Amino acid sequence: MRLHTATLLLLLATAMTARAEPAATVPNPAPAHPELRDVLDEFGGKPGLTALMDDFMLILLDDPRMAVFFEQVDQQRVKDKLVEQFCVILGGDCEYTGMDMVEAHAGIEVTHADFNILVEDLQIAMDRRGIPTRAQNQLLAKLAPMHREVINR
Ligand code: HEM
Repeated sequence: MRLHTATLLLLLATAMTARAEPAATVPNPAPAHPELRDVLDEFGGKPGLTALMDDFMLILLDDPRMAVFFEQVDQQRVKDKLVEQFCVILGGDCEYTGMDMVEAHAGIEVTHADFNILVEDLQIAMDRRGIPTRAQNQLLAKLAPMHREVINR
């Protein structure tokens, strides 16, 4: 009987230890690149990013392939978080206060094709604002690896 209780306690302790293990780590959604600070200037700083995200959201909502994703969400929140995220990535003095990229997209099903369409729409928005191609590509190069967390089907 004694042994039995000891075994149960051991099993319980093992289970508790297992539960206390940290979850698998998700990559930082907003890694800072101080060397890209000049690129942020080409985007017009934080105000330029804010204007860009306003345009980008309108383009997404006007694109039937993307509207399905963005019609129902808090668009102002998404725009605000994107401004913060891009500002930090481009070495700005900003803070990203949003979710990680797995969590942010867990409620929707995103394919590789969807990812490419969103990037296309972002390029249209950047072109319309006259962001130089090289600056566009420097941002896109930092966003591209995030496809691993965003694409979930
Ligand atoms: C590199 C690519 C992407 C980046 C950097 C990105 C970034 C973000 C960020 C920062 C948020 C806000 C997180 C928060 O609320 O805390 C967000 C939300 C969202 N994203 Fe993305 N995203 C990307 C790709 C995509 C794609 C391809 C889709 C779908 C086609 C998508 C659809 C959404 C939707 C619908 C939300 C709002 C979710 C909700 O409020 O429930 N995203 N994304």
